Amino acid sequence: MKAMSSSLLCAIFTSVLCFATIAAGGDDQFLFSGFAGANITLDGVATITPDGLVDLTNAHERLIGHMFYPTALHFRKSPNSIVQSFSVSFAFGIHPNYRPSQGFAFFIAKSMNFSSAIDLQYFGIFNTMNQGNLSNHIFAIEIDTLLNSELRDIDANHIGIDINSVISNESHTAGFYDDNNGLFNPLNLTTGEAMLVWIDYSEETSQINVSMSSLYMSKPGRPLISTIYNLSTVITEVAYLGFASGAGKDNTRHYILGWSFGMNRPAPIIDIRKLPKLPRVGPKPQPKVLVVVLPIATGTLVFTVGLTVFLLVRRNKKYAELREDWETEFGPHRFSYKDLYYSTGGFKTKNLLGVGGFGRVYKGMLPKSNVEIAVKRVSHESKQGMKEFVAEIVSIGRLQHRNIAHLLGYCRRKGELFLVYEYMPNGSLDKYLHSQDNKPTLSWPHRFQIIKGIASGLLYLHEEWEKVVIHRDIKASNILLDNEMNARLGDFGLARLYDHGLVDSSTTHVVGTIGYLAPELACTRKATPLTDVFSFGIFILEVVCGRRPIRQNAQEKQVMLVDWVLEHWHNRTITDTVDAALHGDYNVSEACLALKLGLLCSHPFVDRRPTMRQVVKYLEGDAESPELTPTHMNFEMLAMMQNEGFDPYIMSYPSSMTSHGSVSDISTTGTGR
Ligand SMILES: Nc1ncnc2c1ncn2[C@@H]1O[C@H](COP(=O)(O)OP(=O)(O)OP(=O)(O)O)[C@@H](O)[C@H]1O
Ligand SMILES: *[C@@H]1O[C@H](CO)[C@@H](O)[C@H](O)[C@H]1NC(C)=O
Ligand SMILES: *[C@@H]1O[C@H](CO)[C@@H](O)[C@H](O)[C@H]1NC(C)=O
Ligand SMILES: *[C@@H]1O[C@H](CO)[C@@H](O)[C@H](O)[C@H]1NC(C)=O
Ligand SMILES: *[C@@H]1O[C@H](CO)[C@@H](O)[C@H](O)[C@H]1NC(C)=O
Ligand SMILES: *[C@@H]1O[C@H](CO)[C@@H](O)[C@H](O)[C@H]1NC(C)=O
Ligand SMILES: *[C@@H]1O[C@H](CO)[C@@H](O)[C@H](O)[C@H]1NC(C)=O
Ligand SMILES: *[C@@H]1O[C@H](CO)[C@@H](O)[C@H](O)[C@H]1NC(C)=O
Ligand SMILES: [Mg+2]
Repeated sequence: MKAMSSSLLCAIFTSVLCFATIAAGGDDQFLFSGFAGANITLDGVATITPDGLVDLTNAHERLIGHMFYPTALHFRKSPNSIVQSFSVSFAFGIHPNYRPSQGFAFFIAKSMNFSSAIDLQYFGIFNTMNQGNLSNHIFAIEIDTLLNSELRDIDANHIGIDINSVISNESHTAGFYDDNNGLFNPLNLTTGEAMLVWIDYSEETSQINVSMSSLYMSKPGRPLISTIYNLSTVITEVAYLGFASGAGKDNTRHYILGWSFGMNRPAPIIDIRKLPKLPRVGPKPQPKVLVVVLPIATGTLVFTVGLTVFLLVRRNKKYAELREDWETEFGPHRFSYKDLYYSTGGFKTKNLLGVGGFGRVYKGMLPKSNVEIAVKRVSHESKQGMKEFVAEIVSIGRLQHRNIAHLLGYCRRKGELFLVYEYMPNGSLDKYLHSQDNKPTLSWPHRFQIIKGIASGLLYLHEEWEKVVIHRDIKASNILLDNEMNARLGDFGLARLYDHGLVDSSTTHVVGTIGYLAPELACTRKATPLTDVFSFGIFILEVVCGRRPIRQNAQEKQVMLVDWVLEHWHNRTITDTVDAALHGDYNVSEACLALKLGLLCSHPFVDRRPTMRQVVKYLEGDAESPELTPTHMNFEMLAMMQNEGFDPYIMSYPSSMTSHGSVSDISTTGTGR
């Protein structure tokens, strides 16, 4: 009887809580079933929708959104006592876009100040510098929908326990263990369905349990992840709770539907009937009447509009484009010439970002979305192979990685091709290294971060995407810096123009850029991941030394950067090669590692070069740094190769080093096609 009345009381209490939508049961318990009118704190791009969903990433930009419980909670009874048991549950939904995107995280942190945190895979709570720092005092559960191998993610659909670091202490593919048969059932985080997560911590055992299920299931008996970690070393006496996401420009949405918390007690149960509804993924089903009327109406409309557009286009030859039947399947990636024309102010010189081997690059701003773009205008003769080329650049447009500048789409006109890239406000790396435009000197941590970033981007291209992608033109001018000075590999697809015979039928080009070309390319002409590794090696040396791959010395002789570094290596004066502009302010062991890797990657023998996976391991300190013994790398061998005329980079070139080599250049040494 007593038990019954108390459970009745409990039920009444809970339902009162639910009806109020939000209610705080003192400091140590709360429940939100939807957030309409709720007292919560938002910052960044987070908003509450009219329906009462918290939308953490309501932005077209790459920005961060946070949501906090408005007050700090006391996780310890007194400053020196242990962190008490607690329990959290929340309901969320991820609305995917056509592109994979980062996830979001629940956190308990010492403050609401995340001003130094960064977006994407750092979820707006961590940054690249504070990984594993005990003074972070951050406990987080990441709901991650992208594979970032440099952060040791297990897959693109997982949940992880993050303690002071975005590298999870423990993680598991999203899903649950079935109560009946004990089998694991995976759940797809990005189907747009609502799901529930529970987090329980016990002060007696220091055990952390994390469970998840779909919205209509009860809490699974066996947790998805269970680990022992004494959170008394992590969570501060008073701490803030909340959610964060730092999604990309891709329109993916991270919604929180409901949330509850209990200190020293289970989190109140979220009544799923009271939760706001997630927006629908995909088109709305139509009422019956419309099914008949609508096709006729739209048919007529489409015809009229089509006719008008046709006539307008006919009249307005200025914006004429080349569009063929096969392009319909690439529709979303096809930009209209008119949009590109207006967005770049009619390809005005004022908006010219630079001129490269293929054409001019202009800055633009897309009219509707206000997204900044860089448009590369390439002229081409033949249209043979165009279909294959477009299919390839569209598939390359699906690449998504923190260190890759996205290719957004393309447009065609007669004799011209336009490639639309994400605009990178800080321009290309070469401008910083070779101090043009009075750019500031890059500090050592920046340089090392750039090398690591590009290594991880290349690893993604070579091994982690669905196809092996070879970049073929890695060099400082194709490394772009975004607004956080994060390095991104740019200029995809261009090398492919050659393969498809779209450029220059008269002079046959070598794909790539002089100084970065692997020697075997001269004979085999076949780009492989290891020819990229070679260019990457030269690139590392260029970043560390602040010198171009080929330089003329006082006697007007061509000096190869790699030879010069190698000479210093043998003379044990390797640190003399580090960029003097750093004034000795750099980390010696990191610099030596980078130089060593640079030499190893640009090894003339293909089979001596490491793969990008090994390179990333060395750079992250996960593998012993490689030995560079005389047998690996010796002078006689290089000298021998050079005497045999194998080494394309000792040949004399016209002074413009940024230009693409052509057969007429190469053939002087008999290594042309
Ligand atoms: N997405 C971008 N955002 C900002 N600036 C860019 C972007 N893409 C290119 N640029 C700028 O335009 C310049 C010219 O680029 P382009 O790629 O045409 O030449 P390149 O890189 O020197 O040679 P290559 O033709 O071999 O790539 C670059 O040096 C860079 O500064
Ligand atoms: C929201 O909660 C905070 C902390 O409990 C309180 O100070 C503030 O007055 C509340 N705001 C509203 C509008 O209720
Ligand atoms: C947030 O922290 C940064 C340092 O990380 C500090 O510079 C800034 O003043 C802080 N902002 C507030 C509002 O406390
Ligand atoms: C950890 O972070 C604190 C404060 O940001 C900083 O002072 C300290 O140097 C960092 N420690 C390490 C090992 O990076
Ligand atoms: C997780 O944390 C525990 C306790 O500190 C530690 O022993 C374990 O190695 C960590 N696991 C990983 C994968 O970092
Ligand atoms: C999850 O669902 C989305 C959309 O239905 C699909 O694109 C994606 O491939 C699925 N992911 C997994 C891991 O099955
Ligand atoms: C974690 O799950 C295990 C297994 O179900 C259970 O025995 C334990 O009590 C749970 N711990 C917490 C803190 O909930
Ligand atoms: C956790 O650490 C605190 C001290 O930081 C200690 O007092 C407590 O006993 C530890 N808890 C467990 C379960 O080991
Ligand atoms: Mg370029």
